[in-house]
Amino acid sequence: MDKAKIVALLNQDIEGEHGAIIQYLTHAYAMGEGEMACEIEALAREEMRHLDWLAETIVELSGVPSLKRGAMRMGGESVTDWMRNDVLLEENGMNLYREHIKIIDDIKIKRLLKRILSDEESHHGDFKHFVEKAQKEGMQDVRGTRSDRVIQTLNWGIEHEYTVILQYIFQSYMTTNKEAKKQLEDQAINEMQHLGWLAEKIVDISGSPRIEHTEVDQSTKTADMLRADIKIEQEVAAAYDRAAKETEDPDLRGLLIRIRDHELYHTEVFSDLLREEG
Ligand SMILES: [Fe+2]
Ligand SMILES: [Fe+2]
Ligand SMILES: [Fe+2]
Repeated sequence: MDKAKIVALLNQDIEGEHGAIIQYLTHAYAMGEGEMACEIEALAREEMRHLDWLAETIVELSGVPSLKRGAMRMGGESVTDWMRNDVLLEENGMNLYREHIKIIDDIKIKRLLKRILSDEESHHGDFKHFVEKAQKEGMQDVRGTRSDRVIQTLNWGIEHEYTVILQYIFQSYMTTNKEAKKQLEDQAINEMQHLGWLAEKIVDISGSPRIEHTEVDQSTKTADMLRADIKIEQEVAAAYDRAAKETEDPDLRGLLIRIRDHELYHTEVFSDLLREEG
């Protein structure tokens, strides 16, 4: 099987992982604080590791990792319904991995896919268990319908964070500068924290997080990547600063200032890298 064909199959797998991450995070945030939400977030993190392994494999094959998000199963009214959807999504993933293991002839890639499949089988069991638990405990959607300016600002923050997470992980796969790769990975993890804080805050104050992103910069030269990153970080630091000044709620202000300061730090890290890159 030629490289391009394998890349196309692995990109299908990446898109599936991407969809699973967002579906599970949406569910975890919507059920509020609790043990089950934490466990589901941990499963989403495992899907992120899968995505990472798949992307690194694609780059080794001289391919470009897909940023598209695969199909999600987002319907359902209660936590029980959501957990059933998560069971079904795992089944879709397992079927896809089984098919790809069968048709890909590269031993190393086959082994990686088998490794991921064993995780998905375990997740499948976890979600089946969560269906029963949610049913027994009558767990409900804890999101509210508040949709004023504060919620809009926080959802704008999520949109930004999701965009830069994709941008930085994509760039970390594509850059040949080792230090830039490390920093992009680190800052992407920091942006994931921001996304989580914002989503939890929204649910806390009776809103509903919206996890969508805008256009991702896909420059292939490291200097171009860093220039795009610095620009977006400067814009977002200013926006968080404005939002912090507008809010009356001291908790929310503290959160926005903390995120703003991280964004300023990111600006400086990327500016240093750009200077070294020349
Ligand atoms: Fe999974
Ligand atoms: Fe951020
Ligand atoms: Fe940032």
